[in-house]
Amino acid sequence: MNSTNSRIAVAITVNGTAHELQVPARQTLAECVREELGLTGTHLGCEHGVCGACTVLVDGQAARSCLVLTVQADGATIETVESLANDDTLHAVQQAMVDNHGFQCAFCAPGFLMTIKALIDNQAVLTKATLREELSGNLCRCTGYASILAGAEAVLGLTGESNA
Ligand code: FES
Ligand code: FES
Repeated sequence: MNSTNSRIAVAITVNGTAHELQVPARQTLAECVREELGLTGTHLGCEHGVCGACTVLVDGQAARSCLVLTVQADGATIETVESLANDDTLHAVQQAMVDNHGFQCAFCAPGFLMTIKALIDNQAVLTKATLREELSGNLCRCTGYASILAGAEAVLGLTGESNA
């Protein structure tokens, strides 16, 4: 990292594209992907780590991008919600949410989708109960969560299990 005129050089790979950027020291990763890179699919709700709407994957792990400084992500591989669909083909987690009418306004969607993608990618061993714990950091103001959980359970293969 080199400081230049109060900006700091960072190299990050976002959705498969390498970027070399000069960013303010206090810029969050959420601001970086939205404002520097134009990836506005990552939503900002609370901006202090509570709602989960800003969740992205940093080196494969779900992270709240409002709590990560861009400079902390130097050298990292970032995935945002824009990485999920392949042209007109939805990612399995997106399709599961469509099939289960998962979202209403969908402000919370990018956070849920990326949190669940991390569970899929990391082959998390889950029950319906532990899935709820994994998703408990993502808030939704519309749905009451049942439809989101149905989509998550479907894509994670938990539909045949009890709630325990
Ligand atoms: S905007 Fe990051 S957790 Fe709410
Ligand atoms: S669907 Fe509106 S906040 Fe979740």
